[in-house]
Amino acid sequence: CGIVGYIGTQVASEILLSGLEKLEYRGYDSAGIALIWEGQTQTIRAKGKLNNLREKLMGVDIPARVGIGHTRWATHGKPEEYNAHPHMDTAMRVAVVQNGIIENYRELRETLKAKGHQFRSDTDTEVIPHLIAEYLKSVDGSGGSPFLEAVRQAVNELEGAFAIAVVCADYPDELIVARQQAPLVLGFGQGEFFCASDTPALIPHTRAVLPLENGELARLTPLGAEVYSFGGERVQKYPRTLNWNPVLVEKQGFRHFMLKEIYEQPGVVRTCLEAYLNPDWEANQESPIKLGLPEHFYQDLEQVQILACGTSWHASLVGKYLLEQLAEVPTMVQYASEFRYAPPPITANTLTIGVTQSGETADTLAALAMEQQRRSGKTSQYQARLLGITNRPESSLAQMVAQIIDTHAGIEIGVAATKTFVAQLMAFYFLALDLAYRRQTLPLERIAEIIAGLRQLPAEVELILESQERYIEELAHEFNETQDFIFLGRGINFPIALEGALKLKEISYIHAEGYPAGEMKHGPIALLDAKVPVVAIAMPGSLYEKVLSNAQEAKARDARLIGVTPKDVPQATEIFDDLLPVPKMEELLSPILTVIPLQLLAYHIAARRGLDVDQPRNLAKSVTVE
Ligand code: G6P
Repeated sequence: CGIVGYIGTQVASEILLSGLEKLEYRGYDSAGIALIWEGQTQTIRAKGKLNNLREKLMGVDIPARVGIGHTRWATHGKPEEYNAHPHMDTAMRVAVVQNGIIENYRELRETLKAKGHQFRSDTDTEVIPHLIAEYLKSVDGSGGSPFLEAVRQAVNELEGAFAIAVVCADYPDELIVARQQAPLVLGFGQGEFFCASDTPALIPHTRAVLPLENGELARLTPLGAEVYSFGGERVQKYPRTLNWNPVLVEKQGFRHFMLKEIYEQPGVVRTCLEAYLNPDWEANQESPIKLGLPEHFYQDLEQVQILACGTSWHASLVGKYLLEQLAEVPTMVQYASEFRYAPPPITANTLTIGVTQSGETADTLAALAMEQQRRSGKTSQYQARLLGITNRPESSLAQMVAQIIDTHAGIEIGVAATKTFVAQLMAFYFLALDLAYRRQTLPLERIAEIIAGLRQLPAEVELILESQERYIEELAHEFNETQDFIFLGRGINFPIALEGALKLKEISYIHAEGYPAGEMKHGPIALLDAKVPVVAIAMPGSLYEKVLSNAQEAKARDARLIGVTPKDVPQATEIFDDLLPVPKMEELLSPILTVIPLQLLAYHIAARRGLDVDQPRNLAKSVTVE
């Protein structure tokens, strides 16, 4: 979910709506705002996308100067209007928006009901305004703000992960916010203050931001912002300046953000190369890669464990291949949500990497926190070495781990990850090469050769985009009726098959499965017939012949075969019914190329079906709940 808040001198509703627009990627099951006006708390809410709320607000003229807003990704309670935020207390004075999950809401609800509070929704959030209203009855605000004090007492009773923003008709000059394990950033303007789940909502108004930390709450008034701990102590904090380019959050003539972001990929790869390659490595006898990691991260390294979700998990699988094959470090990749509850036994000298483009995925953050915790107090070789790979250096992840590799992709708005995936792959190439150099697992000439290959990638990605997009758009028409797809790949391209299938599932709602090509015969082959297209990634290299044979097995079952493969290899052209050609490139570096036609295929199939590519149903870009 996404939350925003405003207090100042401008009309709040417009600012809240435009803020929510920038946060809609976080969920779009319903939206709502609450405004304090003429001594009342007014809420306007609508089921479905933000546009429905916008329409509802057309006829409403409330020039309030303070308010909060929410865009929801449903957890507790169906995506209906009565479950939409903001939620209010019985007397409809206090209004709350929340991002997260209140785990003890059932107990709180029962206690509050027994005290006469009336509930109107199925959500966990609704307990919060009631609880605050309850404290407001008795709170002693002497010397301070009773409203702040009531919210402070209430948040101390909440269990779970949450970020909230609260307004109350009885305190029209105050906006109170709090954070516990869910993101919340304050924005500082001139005589006005903002809060939001993420910075894109703040950028149009201010670059001066202050991310709250866990266990902090803040009181915003038109005159200033004060930060406190949940214990009630004042915390001195200063905003920092974001240097972000607002054009990244505009579509710039592209039909969808996803297509724009696919096209940004050559630039992203270039930026990564510039940021991390060390041009003087040979002359100075240094590592070819400058990641800026401390020496003890490398010391006696025996193992790497990578924790991630979704697309980041796929990037991590490519990372495992690279770390093992180039740097000879045994590497394990785990879904963060699984690792949390069944961590493997603690191993010595282990580097733990959390991969999350948003830096906010609750499962990944919790898995890392758990790892940190269970290693603390152990002897030095067991101490946690936590590294984050993220696209958001200001995120919660960055606050939590000792070191990060910034993937420099620029903000990604399309819910289906594209450019951030490619940037994560680049981060893994760099880490693997850095380790290979330090551990002396590759000859220097081979390292130089791989780097030369990496340098070619931006131009090659451009070539695919220029030469293939129109063709893929046409090809997409032929899958109007298709209900299932299979993606096959092997070795370093197996995770790309998984990613191709995930992209298609996410945005076109077509059932798709990615398989290691050699595994198809052990089950999924039973699914094949003329109605199930098979996309095979076949890059010349150690597994080329094997993938082609696996593709033949599919063809023998009448499947339509689509090959992601270089064009001028006659063997391949004969086997495949359709080609999504990619330039010739050594297998090790090919994932950055092979994923591009798969992104375009998914995009065009979904766009052709008239689906909402940037905001596919049921998904959210960053899932900040467990
Ligand atoms: C959500 C998104 C996925 C994304 C995953 C992990 O589920 O819909 O596209 O891959 O979160 O996101 P992260 O920000 O941790 O990389």
